[in-house]
Amino acid sequence: MQTQEIFDKLWADYIAQNPDAKKVYDCFVAEGEHVVNDHIAFRTFFDTRINVDVMARPFLEAGYEQKGYYIFEDKHLTAKHYEHKTLPDAPRVFISQLMTDHFSPELQSVVKQCASRVPDNLVFGNDLIFAGNVWGPPSYETYEMLRNASEYAAWLYVYGFVSNHFTVSINSLTKLNTIQKVNQFLKDKGFLLNSAGGEIKGTPQELLEQSSTKAGFLPIEFVEGKFEIPSCYYEFAIRYPDTDGKLYSGFIAKSADKIFESTDFYKK
Ligand code: NI
Repeated sequence: MQTQEIFDKLWADYIAQNPDAKKVYDCFVAEGEHVVNDHIAFRTFFDTRINVDVMARPFLEAGYEQKGYYIFEDKHLTAKHYEHKTLPDAPRVFISQLMTDHFSPELQSVVKQCASRVPDNLVFGNDLIFAGNVWGPPSYETYEMLRNASEYAAWLYVYGFVSNHFTVSINSLTKLNTIQKVNQFLKDKGFLLNSAGGEIKGTPQELLEQSSTKAGFLPIEFVEGKFEIPSCYYEFAIRYPDTDGKLYSGFIAKSADKIFESTDFYKK
C-alpha cells in the first residue's frame, strides 16, 4: 500500500470512530486552516506476534525508516518513531508498546490470550494497523483490572489496533500559529484539553511543544453490557529549528509521557 492510501484509510477509520476528532478537524477547516499531520500514533503490547516491529511493517514497505527510540519507565512503555525517506510531508509514525513482562501474571495472561487470538494473516500481513480489536468483545471486569495496573493496557484491550491520535502540525497553520492560540481556540469551542503536566508539554528550548484534547467517550459493548469509556484524542504540535536550522523532528519522552494520559478514564 502506498503512503497516501494508508493514511487516507487510517483517517477514515479514525473520524468514523471518533466524532469528537472530526469536530476538532472541522473547526480548523471552518477557520480557513489547511490541516497537515505532524504524526500519528499506535499502541500495542510487547509480544512477538504484535510488537512495534510487526506494526511498523506496512510503513517500512511504504518507504519509512526508523528514527527515534524512546523509553517511558514510569508507564512501562518503549516506542519507536518512523519517518518517510523521500516524502518530507508524510506524517511521522509513533508506535509504542507495553512492556508486559513488568506486570502481574494476571495482566500477562490477558495479553497472551489477546495476542493468540490475532489471526495469522494479520500477524504476517500488512493489515494489522487497520484491524481494531481482533480479540473479541471485552469484559468490563478485565478492563477495570487492567486500569488498576495501566490505563494504557486497558485502553488497548478495548480498542486494539487503531490510530490512537492524529496530530495537527501547528507549523502548517496560518492564523492559529502558536500552541497558545490553538489551545484557546479549542477551549472557546468547548473542547477539554489534557492538563496532566500542564496544558502545554515541552518548551521552545526543547524544540517541541505539544497539547492534546482529552479523549471523548464512546459507548462500548462489553460482555457485561454497555459502558462509556474514553476513546481516541487529537494532538497539536509545534516544532522549532535545531542548531542546523532544520525543524526538530524527534519526540520528547517526558512530554509524550503525559500525552499518553489523554486516554485515561475520567469523570465526565
Ligand atoms: Ni503524539
